[in-house]
Amino acid sequence: MALKFMTAEEAALFVHHDENVGFGGFTPAGCPKSVPTAIAKRAAEEHAKGNPFQIGMFTGASTGNSLDGELSRVKAIKFRTPYQSNKDLRTLLNARETHYYDLHLSELAQNLRYGFLGKVDVAIIEACDVTESGEIVPTCGVGIAPTICRLADRIIVELNRKHPKELRGMHDIYEPADPPYRREIPIYTPSDRIGTPYIKVDPSKIVAVVETDIENEGSPFAPLDDVTMAIGRNVADFLVHEMKAGRIPKEFVPLQSGVGNVANAVLGCMGENKVIPAFNVYTEVIQDAVIKLMEEGRVTFASGCSLTVSNEVINKIYANLSFFKDKILLRPQEISNNPEIARRLGLVTINTALEADIFGNINSTHVSGTRMMNGIGGSGDFTRAGMLSVFTTPSTAKDGKISSIVPMVSHLDHSEHSVKILITEYGVADLRGTSPIQRAHAIIDNCVHPDYRPLLREYLQQGIKGHTPHNLKNCFAFHEELAASGDMHNVDWSRDNRPK
Ligand code: COA
Repeated sequence: MALKFMTAEEAALFVHHDENVGFGGFTPAGCPKSVPTAIAKRAAEEHAKGNPFQIGMFTGASTGNSLDGELSRVKAIKFRTPYQSNKDLRTLLNARETHYYDLHLSELAQNLRYGFLGKVDVAIIEACDVTESGEIVPTCGVGIAPTICRLADRIIVELNRKHPKELRGMHDIYEPADPPYRREIPIYTPSDRIGTPYIKVDPSKIVAVVETDIENEGSPFAPLDDVTMAIGRNVADFLVHEMKAGRIPKEFVPLQSGVGNVANAVLGCMGENKVIPAFNVYTEVIQDAVIKLMEEGRVTFASGCSLTVSNEVINKIYANLSFFKDKILLRPQEISNNPEIARRLGLVTINTALEADIFGNINSTHVSGTRMMNGIGGSGDFTRAGMLSVFTTPSTAKDGKISSIVPMVSHLDHSEHSVKILITEYGVADLRGTSPIQRAHAIIDNCVHPDYRPLLREYLQQGIKGHTPHNLKNCFAFHEELAASGDMHNVDWSRDNRPK
């Protein structure tokens, strides 16, 4: 069946008000750009005429500015799931002008198949190749693309010429069967290939192919500062210590590392520490640091859902595909983040907390318990299922006015039962096999900023006698003080309004 080439504006006419649209890609990597921008333009035109135009949105994770940004700014989003990191979208959802629900990223595709989240009317996929027989080869991010292509009535392909057709072979597309027929997912090492190098669809569903050559919307990383570097070194030293103690096998285990600067610093420090052997990565986003370590022979293989790298690095990969192609596999997030595989491979998982409490609970998502930052992403998929779950955080935020470690987290994403290690720039708290009071001392002594240690020790003294010595009247005093004076240093337990 001949492919139907057209402009983004023409393709956008296949998307109607109140429909649910699934977008391929994961982070800005692999996300469509020209059709979402055209949909946003159309929404603005309809709104100007007084007509409603909003769509429900399923994405892999965060997306680029031309997707979440454009659609948010014209208020064209009815609901949105799962992860986001766009400033304009964040403003909308915190104002509750857009309904947002946060999900473990591994779960979205199966929840769509189970029918939990409504219909997928249209799938929009960025591809480096598409054939008349219905083979779609994604670009540098997969996300939920295979599932939305299968479920959607209509598929729009953005054929982006910035991504070479020769990427074919870097993807491993596999969808598990649904219960009661599901078998084990046969990945036993990160390099195991279990699916096809393309998404196979019914070609009659491809209603439009839009050719583009738009650059990735990758953002460069900020230079690493002292705090980030100290966290990275603490993580690397801790992992060496675990290896020497025989708790990590000498061959090492695959690593999952979260998004952002801390993850890049951790990877950099692990690469430099030659006691750690060359290792594999089984993760969600493959970042710049992984590619550098691959070139240096320190990372042997990387399995992920996207190449979330700077434009400089993606161009380097494409210019040298023969080197990288047998060292990288891009999988759907249902597989890259799959808890079954994370547990089988025995991952060391390293993710960043927004806030932790002295008993080892983690808030990854909500500032002061109410304002959504980004979402849980894959952190829950990996933390609960991996072999050794590590959380990192700078000990303070906002020039020291916020202690990242508080008496009780203001929102809970990962409970004390899943979190094994907490690391800040000050040190490491090993929470394995410890009671709540032991955890509290380990965290306060090793991880908390020295300014806040006395306050947190005093909090413990006020704890109601019991297994976990909380004082429910005071447990949010740090947050209340931040709201009142803008500085958690000002907590004063002796004040009248802070009963003991
Ligand atoms: N209270 C209030 N604000 C806080 C805070 C706290 N305890 N800790 C940090 N902040 C603020 C920072 O000051 C910063 O504000 P700014 O944007 O105004 O500068 C902002 O929150 C982000 O903090 P930063 O230190 O830059 O964080 P980051 O970029 O390392 O991201 C998370 C941290 C937790 C938001 C991020 O890792 C995330 O979204 N995690 C959840 C998903 C996940 O773990 N994915 C990986 C799985 S593979």
